[in-house]
Amino acid sequence: MPINPLEDLSRGIRVIGEQLRKSAGPDVEWVSDRLENFRRPPAPPRSLAELRAELDSLVGLERVKEQVRALLAFLEVQALRKQNGLSEVATSQHLVFLGNPGTGKTTIARLLAEMYRAMGLLRSGHLVEVDRAGLVGQYVGTTAIKTDRVIRRALDGVLFIDEAYALAPEHERMDFGPEAIEALLKRMEDSRHRLVVIVAGYPRPMRHFLESNPGLSSRFAREIFFPDYTTDELIAITEKFAVEYEYALAEDVDETLEAIFAGAERGERFGNARFARTLFEQALNAQALRLAELRGHALGQLAPDELMRITAGDLRSAAEALGEGAELGSPGAGSWTLFRRRRR
Ligand SMILES: Nc1ncnc2c1ncn2[C@@H]1O[C@H](COP(=O)(O)OP(=O)(O)OP(=O)(O)O)[C@@H](O)[C@H]1O
Ligand SMILES: [Mg+2]
Repeated sequence: MPINPLEDLSRGIRVIGEQLRKSAGPDVEWVSDRLENFRRPPAPPRSLAELRAELDSLVGLERVKEQVRALLAFLEVQALRKQNGLSEVATSQHLVFLGNPGTGKTTIARLLAEMYRAMGLLRSGHLVEVDRAGLVGQYVGTTAIKTDRVIRRALDGVLFIDEAYALAPEHERMDFGPEAIEALLKRMEDSRHRLVVIVAGYPRPMRHFLESNPGLSSRFAREIFFPDYTTDELIAITEKFAVEYEYALAEDVDETLEAIFAGAERGERFGNARFARTLFEQALNAQALRLAELRGHALGQLAPDELMRITAGDLRSAAEALGEGAELGSPGAGSWTLFRRRRR
């Protein structure tokens, strides 16, 4: 890869910023904040048409796609009104994503961020993803500073707060979560043209979160609900992963995939598409092990289609490695945590 000296320099400066932050004295915070501005230069913008095509290509999510299209239509009209000197309707662009893990929330948030940028509504359109630990400090007074810094990083882009309900614990009295919410609400108001905030989490505790502070429910006007994927959708998503990574699922794998996905225990902690991804990645390991048994000459002679092919056996081994029993009916103890919260 050719080395770009400017990119090299800004990477160096970012590393210094990180080091300063680790040493964390109040004196260096100002400096480390300034260095934070040396963000990675944004990727070249994609056109709205490209982004719409990517939205369409996602498996299922029909209601989510409809809501995103409706939001885009609204924003486009607002942008046109602005160009024509008409007044802006003061609606809030902040969103609530309700849904279980792995239902596509981060994927849609990232796409939306790029769409806002393509429409000229956000200058950079990057996504900053945090959870409670990224906003809440350990000592009195540190939370507002921490939250403020995250918001500054997110300016001109989208701030995505995962499991946002953890900021308003139901039974905790001495907690700094509400301080983060206050700081957030204030900055959302002050920077309303430069920041879109998306809060996400399980439907049930999110209701409690939104009701915990009257400022929240009024600012997060739109809710998008992400349903769990059906077995057929999980199969289609696995097929999509295969195409994306230049692998090919053997013709007879559907039955195996169906047995795995239909047998998986559903519930608030089910990993949905994240489970499909982990299963797929495990299957790549299983394929590699299978092929590695053909040592030496035979391995070197493998045709590309053998290097691409994932068999039903590979998927079965993958499911077993993940604690989904051989007959694929009984999830092994603790197996769900394996594919719940891995980010990418
Ligand atoms: N509808 C879909 N079509 C194709 N791929 C999908 C779809 N939904 C999710 N994926 C893929 O599944 C993986 C998990 O999705 P994503 O990270 O968006 O879920 P999430 O709801 O943010 O999960 P978590 O709550 O665990 O953070 C990603 O690799 C994503 O590309
Ligand atoms: Mg996510």
